[in-house]
Amino acid sequence: MENATPRRVEHQQTDRGYVPVYATGVVEQPWDSYSVTDHEVWNTLYRRQRELLPGRACAEFLEGVERFGMGENGIPKFADLNALLGKTTGWQIVAVEGLLPDEVFFDHLANRRFPVSWWIRKPDQLDYLSEPDLFHDLFGHVPLLLNPVFADYMQAYGRGGMKAFGIGPGALMNLTRLYWYTVEFGLINTPDGLRIYGAGIVSSKGESIYCLDSAAPNRIGFGLERVMNTRYRIDTYQQTYFVIDSFEQLFDATRPDFTPIYQRLAAKTPHAAGDVLESDRVFNVGTREGWATNADT
Ligand code: PHE
Ligand code: CO
Repeated sequence: MENATPRRVEHQQTDRGYVPVYATGVVEQPWDSYSVTDHEVWNTLYRRQRELLPGRACAEFLEGVERFGMGENGIPKFADLNALLGKTTGWQIVAVEGLLPDEVFFDHLANRRFPVSWWIRKPDQLDYLSEPDLFHDLFGHVPLLLNPVFADYMQAYGRGGMKAFGIGPGALMNLTRLYWYTVEFGLINTPDGLRIYGAGIVSSKGESIYCLDSAAPNRIGFGLERVMNTRYRIDTYQQTYFVIDSFEQLFDATRPDFTPIYQRLAAKTPHAAGDVLESDRVFNVGTREGWATNADT
């Protein structure tokens, strides 16, 4: 059988560039329609990351992978994962066609539903694809939803998203940067050293190595307004990774009402992705080796 493919509805210009937009509805995971190749892609990606991530990903992430019993037995059934997820933190995975409009995405998170693309990349896309697939969404994001603090943070982010959506595009951009530099590309400082918790990193072999081992990128202590005012790269590894001390720190920092912060930031020029500021708590000043010189998002 052909690999299962998603249904695109239209294309739309967004802050992430020109992206496909999919049917917004929740679908049933079409598990029976996955091909042998689809399952093999999962197994290959899973094995690669499972070997690479001990000593790189944070303990909470690795523990989540174990507790779900993810493995090399093909694409997991969402219903099986949902049984544990539901009774642990009350979250549910819902199957979707792909990237959702912002307000639909926020509504899911605010109701403790995490949208996961039901389709998986092709064998020639193991190292890079331009939009999130099942491996990124599921392996990258779902393990940490078993962590109570992170689970609450994600719901609060969804509620904050609804609010930012009502305020306007500037607020939405500031909030999207927070998601980017925490949920997708965050690092966490532990007694054993820096560890990964960002889904965009743990689902990428190349960036799982680069973000910790390369001297090129900056590694800078997390600051809420610092992050919300910093542009980012969508087409290359990150130029800067922001480091939290704990999930509690992240959740506490994001507790206040963002409305005055959005107002303040609207009057400021954003920092470039690779800037290092006087006020930064610096873990590593990047050598900037191999950095693209064209504009950030
Ligand atoms: N406190 C934020 C607000 O008032 C909401 C939020 C919480 C945003 C957690 C992101 C993460 O908008
Ligand atoms: Co993601």
